[in-house]
Amino acid sequence: MNQRNVFDGSLTSDLDPSGMERTSLFAGGSLRQVFSEIVGKSEAMEAVLQTVGKIARSDAPVLIRGESGTGKELIAKALHRMSNRAGKHLVSLNCSAIPESLLEAELFGHVKGAFTGADKARQGYFEKAHGGTLFLDEIGDMPINLQAKLLRVLQEKQYVPIGSTEPRFADVRIITATNVDLDEAVGKQKFRSDLYYRLNVLPIVLPPLRERKGDVRLLLDHTLNVFNQTHSILNPCYFNGDVYQTLDRYNWPGNVRELINLIERLVVMSGGGEIDLSALPVEIKNSKAGATAKQVEAPYFFAETPGIAPDASVVELLPLEGLNLESYIEQLENTLIMQALERTGNNKNQAAKLLGLNRTTLVERIKKRKLVPLNAPSKEL
Ligand SMILES: Nc1ncnc2c1ncn2[C@@H]1O[C@H](COP(=O)(O)OP(=O)(O)OP(=O)(O)O)[C@@H](O)[C@H]1O
Ligand SMILES: [Mg+2]
Repeated sequence: MNQRNVFDGSLTSDLDPSGMERTSLFAGGSLRQVFSEIVGKSEAMEAVLQTVGKIARSDAPVLIRGESGTGKELIAKALHRMSNRAGKHLVSLNCSAIPESLLEAELFGHVKGAFTGADKARQGYFEKAHGGTLFLDEIGDMPINLQAKLLRVLQEKQYVPIGSTEPRFADVRIITATNVDLDEAVGKQKFRSDLYYRLNVLPIVLPPLRERKGDVRLLLDHTLNVFNQTHSILNPCYFNGDVYQTLDRYNWPGNVRELINLIERLVVMSGGGEIDLSALPVEIKNSKAGATAKQVEAPYFFAETPGIAPDASVVELLPLEGLNLESYIEQLENTLIMQALERTGNNKNQAAKLLGLNRTTLVERIKKRKLVPLNAPSKEL
């Protein structure tokens, strides 16, 4: 079976299923080389990759958690590829995509005549993954009665196909993934706590992209490069500084998948050359404007209550999904500087007084952040 060689991306068909090859593969290359297709150098991502490196060769179950589009499936594939089971199949089953009535037969298979219409025996996912890895995606959506059956397989290391009485040995490494909060699901009795502990032996948590800001730029450049090669090789697209800034600050609720889809759309639609702010979807441009509008409220609140510490329970400034404090504060400062300049007809001395800054500091900030008030003389535009 052809497998992708993780060192240089070429296809190779001679991976040794004994594990010897895997040992040298991993020992011979840095984690960076092994994970060449996983983009990200943030501390959070480095920590995830270190964990993957440590646990890949164990047979214990792994539970990967993270919001949609954070790369859970990508990590599951990396785990399989670095494991001793890499020479066998990685079989994936999305538990939420299969109706409850069919899921059991899909997992364990059935013998001929097991039920009406079962005119021949059918392999289940456990059999297909024999010797390899079984990746159960969206495990949080597994129906509760099937959870009990899965738990039994994990405990006894055997399963019984529907209609059979003969147990079969389940030689699979189980990797599961979910974007739902399993602790909460356990609390609501939608997920069995005993299965949860059984699956969560080796946990991996993938942080959302907004918490690994350093990775956004790397992913933007990498993805742009990939789509330039497929869609726009003769006239490659590039982003101008404003686009980088806006995308850097954007919250990416759909994580890496959203970023990839956006870049593909931008490259295809632009046809080549510079991509500027006008090409970005309104919701992304507005998300920046929306953040600024919220921030404008803050000074008025503080101004009305001089000397009194604001009661955090009265004004809820912190969005549910959290924020990047440094860029929030910078935006807030920018808004106040712009308002001071506009109110004083762009008089730097008066604006500096209004802001309690000395003139030099104000001018430095205006230059550094390229702030231009609406009523600025045209030479400053
Ligand atoms: N760090 C990364 N570097 C490069 N590509 C990535 C990275 N993370 C995710 N991707 C890509 O983003 C897309 C979404 O990733 P993936 O399908 O693994 O996410 P997921 O967490 O399984 O999402 P879902 O919960 O919706 O199933 C894929 O095309 C994947 O290759
Ligand atoms: Mg997935």
